[in-house]
Amino acid sequence: MKKLFVICCLSWLLLLGLFDTSVLGQDVPFKAANLGAWLVIEGWMIPNLFDGILNKDLLDGTQVQLKSTMLNKYLSAENGGGTNLVANRDNPSGWETFRLWRINESTFNLRVFNKQFIGLDNQGQGRNIVAVSTTPENAETFQIVRKPNDPSRVRLKASNGFFVQASSGSSVTADYGDTTDWGAQNPSVFQMTIVRTLRGEYQLTNGYGPDKASQLLKDHWNSYIVEDDFKFMSDNGLNAVRIPVGWWIKYDQTPPPPFVGGSLQALDNAFSWAQKYNMKVIVDLHAVPGSQNGNDHSGSRDGYAGWGDSNIQETVDVIDFLAKRYANQPSLGAMELMNEPNAQFVQFSTLSNYYKKGYAAVRKYTSSAYVILSNRLGDASNKEFLSLAAGLDRSVIDVHYYNLYSDNFNNMNVQQNIDYIYKTRSAQLQEVTQSNGRPLSFVGEWTAALSHDYEDKEVYRRYAKAQLDVYGKTTFGWAYWSYKCTPCGMWSLKRLIIDGLLNL
Ligand SMILES: *[C@@H]1O[C@H](CO)[C@@H](O)[C@H](O)[C@H]1NC(C)=O
Repeated sequence: MKKLFVICCLSWLLLLGLFDTSVLGQDVPFKAANLGAWLVIEGWMIPNLFDGILNKDLLDGTQVQLKSTMLNKYLSAENGGGTNLVANRDNPSGWETFRLWRINESTFNLRVFNKQFIGLDNQGQGRNIVAVSTTPENAETFQIVRKPNDPSRVRLKASNGFFVQASSGSSVTADYGDTTDWGAQNPSVFQMTIVRTLRGEYQLTNGYGPDKASQLLKDHWNSYIVEDDFKFMSDNGLNAVRIPVGWWIKYDQTPPPPFVGGSLQALDNAFSWAQKYNMKVIVDLHAVPGSQNGNDHSGSRDGYAGWGDSNIQETVDVIDFLAKRYANQPSLGAMELMNEPNAQFVQFSTLSNYYKKGYAAVRKYTSSAYVILSNRLGDASNKEFLSLAAGLDRSVIDVHYYNLYSDNFNNMNVQQNIDYIYKTRSAQLQEVTQSNGRPLSFVGEWTAALSHDYEDKEVYRRYAKAQLDVYGKTTFGWAYWSYKCTPCGMWSLKRLIIDGLLNL
């Protein structure tokens, strides 16, 4: 075993020594910053943007559970959806969880586990609450009325003007009249628990509505990243930016609601600033129609990820649009076809098909820009796109490395995190780094943030250095997540540089 390990290491070193990046142009490997939360909103990185929304805890995709205070039981979509609602569960789980679609600050549709919407039965003429409709209409629309000074006590007013009541565990109906009684014994009173929230671009724009959202985002685009940031990055040794964009950018001023237009102008600005400071732009399609992972940053409405075969052509059209617009810009470095598809939702064959078409769309306009294929998150081999990419000139495989989000990492101390970078991440990277450069390898996202906060800043210097050592051996380079992140400490590359914790 030991001998094998030595041979492996030797061949890895040899490979790195022999691999001559100069044949690929002097740009790569890139040292890049992600311009996260700029053209695709992520609430955790910029929470203040959401402050002006009324009922801002009830945005699209918020997951709620509703307990009848009289029965002391949870509302449940029987079988997860497709039939009636009941109020007889002690322990809430998936069937007892409802995802909001927001109409306005007080009016919502509620989506169940199997994706139907709750509503009145008998085409809206009945009074029983069922979860059968797959498209929300008037009969699936409810007003959430909150108790004054106690917003987790609610009543649901149905489209027939009556309130929903759970008169028994098996009877959930909309036939309770108006009342000022908020007592626990009232069958129309429910205790609402918010179990998950989503704060992305969809939530922000639909929360504010078109006029306010448009003004707010214009101000954000013009102030969050400015020309001086490109000067700062360039002065400090960065030579590229990776810019997440959403599919709606293709529609420029008039995207489908609730998205608002104008981010294309901001991307144009980034290209001219990059050129001025001798940097490259990696355009990263971060949010695709229907969502590829259900995350805040995928443009998802409610956390369900529905991107699939029927979305391939419209997604290729977005790539085509961007490639055409920027192909002749000297600062175009690469086009990334899709960020973080999740293996739980996106099939390998569908994604392969899309990658081939997306690659061809870029090549219609440029033979020099790199084309980046993102590995799937979750249960997928990190080598699954190697053979496809090997047949594509100037292709790149993108992997994202965070020592976060699992007990495994939560339980590690600092040294264990560092060892993990030198051993495990290094080995994973070897698997996707090809000696002939087809494809190149790229760590498109990483951070110096750890699961726990440490007073001693040296911790972050050491952890960042370990990552620079290892990710610096990729053939396409790396991109830190993120350039800027005001409320989130070490997630900000700008802050690391200012604090002298990262020397490039
Ligand atoms: C919210 O939408 C509902 C349904 O369209 C409408 O009846 C109600 O007046 C609206 N409320 C506000 C505050 O705009």
